[in-house]
Amino acid sequence: MTDWNKSDWRSKPRVQMPDYTDAEALAAVEGKLSSYPPLVFAGEARRLREELAAVSRGEAFLLQGGDCAESFAAFNADAIRDTFKVMLQMAMVLTYGAKVPVVKVGRMAGQFAKPRSAPTETVNGVELPSYRGDIINDLDFTPEARIPNPEKMLQAYTQAAGTLNLLRAFSTGGYADVHQVHGWTLGFTGAPEAEKYRAMAERISDTLDFMQAAGLTTETNHELQTVDFYTSHEALLLEYEEALTRIDSTSGKWLAGSGHMVWIGDRTRQPDGAHVEFCSGVQNPIGLKAGPTMTSGHLKALMAKLNPNNEAGRLTLIARFGAGSVGEHLPRLIKAVEEEGAKVTWVCDPMHGNTIKSSTGYKTRPFDSVLREVKEFFAVHNAEGTIPGGVHFEMTGADVTECTGGVRAVTDEDLSDRYHTACDPRLNASQSLELAFLVAEELSARRETMLAQQSA
Ligand code: PEP
Ligand code: CO
Repeated sequence: MTDWNKSDWRSKPRVQMPDYTDAEALAAVEGKLSSYPPLVFAGEARRLREELAAVSRGEAFLLQGGDCAESFAAFNADAIRDTFKVMLQMAMVLTYGAKVPVVKVGRMAGQFAKPRSAPTETVNGVELPSYRGDIINDLDFTPEARIPNPEKMLQAYTQAAGTLNLLRAFSTGGYADVHQVHGWTLGFTGAPEAEKYRAMAERISDTLDFMQAAGLTTETNHELQTVDFYTSHEALLLEYEEALTRIDSTSGKWLAGSGHMVWIGDRTRQPDGAHVEFCSGVQNPIGLKAGPTMTSGHLKALMAKLNPNNEAGRLTLIARFGAGSVGEHLPRLIKAVEEEGAKVTWVCDPMHGNTIKSSTGYKTRPFDSVLREVKEFFAVHNAEGTIPGGVHFEMTGADVTECTGGVRAVTDEDLSDRYHTACDPRLNASQSLELAFLVAEELSARRETMLAQQSA
């Protein structure tokens, strides 16, 4: 037992959170949410922590992905199904490359609140408070829409519960059958440039045929039919997080019941701030974004606060420096971790350091920059002898045009066709799967090098 309390964050400096004007309405919402069931159960969060510990040792690989911001308007079964489906396809390709299990974590069922780089936004000379995600205010550019409304937390809870329910059904109800997933993967390789992906997909087919012939069928092996799929989001709106935080009766420890894993953003990671305080006391696996301004001193202070007992799987460091900058920043953070003898899981977010404005005015991310950052992340870990544990993408299963490039190239001019994100640009299904093939190549090359070193 600890003397930490779920409301302790309230006495700490807070940033990036709304100032609700109606205290009574806020208290009423918090009261309701506190009486609702949590969305996840402590045993699941503990299992994810064990799986992330395996990732930190190189015995598994993490795939974390989903929307930048889930939106109320885009809430429907197809969107959930398509993102789930493309993540399973990616996981299959990555498993094949890495030859280790892939831990699948959605940015889903709770990813509603957004930190912003500026508190206001100006359009045609009109200045309004920034949009902060559907759990806080509305995207419409009107003064009313931008007022933070606590009632929106209840809708976010309902949407998160509905999303998680469908994800759980897909995970166990036959939809995740390994042969089914591979059938979809084959469909991708129609693009003529995709010859090398086709070759990898065919090798996966051969392996599945062999397994079938050897009697490893989905009928006899339940594991080939089901997957573990976890949820995660940024723990930004602490009133919502606190209301869903409960004591787990098995361990007597606090659990953030809003999702399996929560992370701290690059803008809210002040060691003495409210967000770090909240995350320090819950037993869920915690992610910590690390951008270019993270010093070794900050990281050491954060590791001491967030993982004082140095438990493997507790802390995932999500590096997001931008293509061309990984070599400048990642080595000092790896050194800080090594100096402390800290157990962490290293993951690459190649999205948030690579956002640019396209020639057509849209916020976008070039596929090549995303890929380049992943490659730099692998190169630094290969050179340092540490473990590149996984990737973190903003992506969707839908055929959007938000990031440029990829084999089915999206150009600056195409961006206006299907630009649907409520916040940052996401990889579409084809770009996501292509990245998985390319990351699988990195993983497979790394594995061959390690095997060669072992036998030398
Ligand atoms: C995000 O993951 O959507 C995000 C805002 O990231 P970061 O905190 O790394 O900027
Ligand atoms: Co984002």
